[in-house]
Amino acid sequence: MTIEPGTTPFQVDLRRHLREREEDRDLTRVICELATASRYIIYSIRTGELGVAGTSNLYGEAQLKLDVLADRIIRKRMTHTGVIASIASEEDAEVRVIDPEGKYSLVFDPLDGSSLVDVNLAVGTIVGIYRGADVLKPGREMVAALYILYGPRCTLVYTTGNGTHEFAMNALMEYTLVQEDLKIADRASMYAPGGTRNKYTPAVEAFVSHLESRGSKLRYSGGFVPDINQVLIKGQGMFLYPHLTDLPQGKLRLLYELNPMAFLVEQAGGAASNGRQRILDILPEGIDHRQPVFIGSKSDVAKIEELIRTLES
Ligand code: F6P
Ligand code: MN
Repeated sequence: MTIEPGTTPFQVDLRRHLREREEDRDLTRVICELATASRYIIYSIRTGELGVAGTSNLYGEAQLKLDVLADRIIRKRMTHTGVIASIASEEDAEVRVIDPEGKYSLVFDPLDGSSLVDVNLAVGTIVGIYRGADVLKPGREMVAALYILYGPRCTLVYTTGNGTHEFAMNALMEYTLVQEDLKIADRASMYAPGGTRNKYTPAVEAFVSHLESRGSKLRYSGGFVPDINQVLIKGQGMFLYPHLTDLPQGKLRLLYELNPMAFLVEQAGGAASNGRQRILDILPEGIDHRQPVFIGSKSDVAKIEELIRTLES
């Protein structure tokens, strides 16, 4: 093995990790291209001019230039891999077919939480990968999922269904292994609650009171990627963005946000539910399908399901 400047002989980079686990070569290529795309995105986040691009995405949110940029960077690199069938991005109103014969399809949120960039909080890219051209399938059919967290450090967490693994970007902008096989304990001692509390239903209110009364600490950043990363890296915790009395479907998108995170969390021994059903079993009704989410430590996901069953049926 050649040792590059700035690295130690003990560092395992992302490509090597995938190769040693005998992942499909084309899938390895897609994941490594996403890692390369993130170098340009982090560069833009750290140096780029911010502002509203003059367009808005499907969901009516103000779109920063960085969202558009991140979308273009990923889209372009993915198209050039030669193995992509179709691409669905949160910034796009439709699924784009690249090559109907392509091996994999991508669903992604190019820059989740982008409004947090101008207050210098962490943001991320979320990706799910399916085999074939159809992306309107339950999340359990994903072959890989990953996110990249642009925080004080830039980290990448991926799964191909063989555990969930964390990498960090080094000075050469390569991802090297930090931790293999992340594990989430059954019980959460911290929680990250999205939405407004006065809009919680009785079951969700009872759940949050239950977590508080046993001493769980509030740890909410307002960014889905850092909030999920916290659960994975601390090895316990509960993130919720529940159904609200004026928003019964919740806020987060099944395709671009919930499914990839549910896959990563389940692979670490956690669980993800909409309160009644496993997230990965939901058949998407469209690319913009939203669902409530309770994700993290397993016994607490079971607890909210029980509360909803008893208080909301
Ligand atoms: O678009 C998703 C997102 O920005 C997530 O990163 C975050 O968890 C959530 O929305 C926050 O929503 P709200 O602005 O309603 O608190
Ligand atoms: Mn988002």
